Amino acid sequence: MRKKVTIVGAGNVGATTAHWLAAKELADIVLVDIVEGIPQGKALDLLESLPVERSDVGVVGSNGYEPTAGSDIVVITAGFPRKPGMSRDDLVRANAEIVGAATAEVAKRSPNSILIVVTNPLDAMCEVARRVSGFPRERVLGMAGVLDSARFCTFIAMELGVSVDNVHAFVLGGHGDQMVPLPRYSTVAGVPITELLDKATIDRLVERTAKGGGEIVNLLKAGSAYYAPGRAITEMIDAILKDKHKILPCAAYLQGEYGIRDLFIGVPCRLGAKGLEQVVEIRLTAEEKASLEKSAQAVEALVKTLP
Ligand code: APR
Repeated sequence: MRKKVTIVGAGNVGATTAHWLAAKELADIVLVDIVEGIPQGKALDLLESLPVERSDVGVVGSNGYEPTAGSDIVVITAGFPRKPGMSRDDLVRANAEIVGAATAEVAKRSPNSILIVVTNPLDAMCEVARRVSGFPRERVLGMAGVLDSARFCTFIAMELGVSVDNVHAFVLGGHGDQMVPLPRYSTVAGVPITELLDKATIDRLVERTAKGGGEIVNLLKAGSAYYAPGRAITEMIDAILKDKHKILPCAAYLQGEYGIRDLFIGVPCRLGAKGLEQVVEIRLTAEEKASLEKSAQAVEALVKTLP
């Protein structure tokens, strides 16, 4: 039987994720959204593309959660974007309500599913999904690191004029301004970029990576990034559904790793059929450790504002 992936929120990120999943023939897809007609219309349109693509997956759109029953993975992208005049705390409260309600609906119909949270502010929304679902940490993950690393890779490849296929980048920490890119562990054909680029250049690329989301928002004016987020979510799903034991940077609920406890933060995670198999601990310099701790404090402050 084919695997089933539910995507809650059929907006830009949700629909683009469905597109990547269908093109890769990874799973049957259920799109859920509150706006009437949107998930149904996008699902039908996508389904009608698949004879051309020669991909045999089902795609269903719904305003209710009935078709989501028995999902293997549930991606949560539902939420409000941050509007002008809205504080970060306002956004947390509004999206916590949406993510909490969506989690409750999917958890009771798919009690064995793995949740991948995408709604921002990411690390705090992961905590909402964990609390509401009651799922073990193996089955509640957040998507940010694959996207942030992909952005870093893009800028490194552009700077050096090399194939993106040669570039591996490493980003830890919270999503957004507090992310912690690790140049020492970022490589081109196996060579650390610290050997290939001077500090000023690396700092510039790191800065652009940390502000990568904002750069897209400024260009689009309305809305935020979705092609790269959609592809990054698909990478996590691919690793899980194919039981690849693949190490990807994800937001995971730490239990003492990196000296952090009871908090979601971006770390290298080994993903397989059960979800999180292991948080991979790498050695950090004192400076990197301090950046990660600062990032953790910012996430902690946000989690404290949760209702
Ligand atoms: N239940 C289901 N869907 C909902 C609900 C709800 N309670 N509330 C809102 N939605 C839907 C909206 O109708 C919309 O279609 O969530 C969708 C969000 O889509 P977009 O506004 O296009 O936002 P998108 O760009 O997809 O980003 C979604 O991902 O990367 C993050 O910061 C981003 O938090 C944001 C999320």
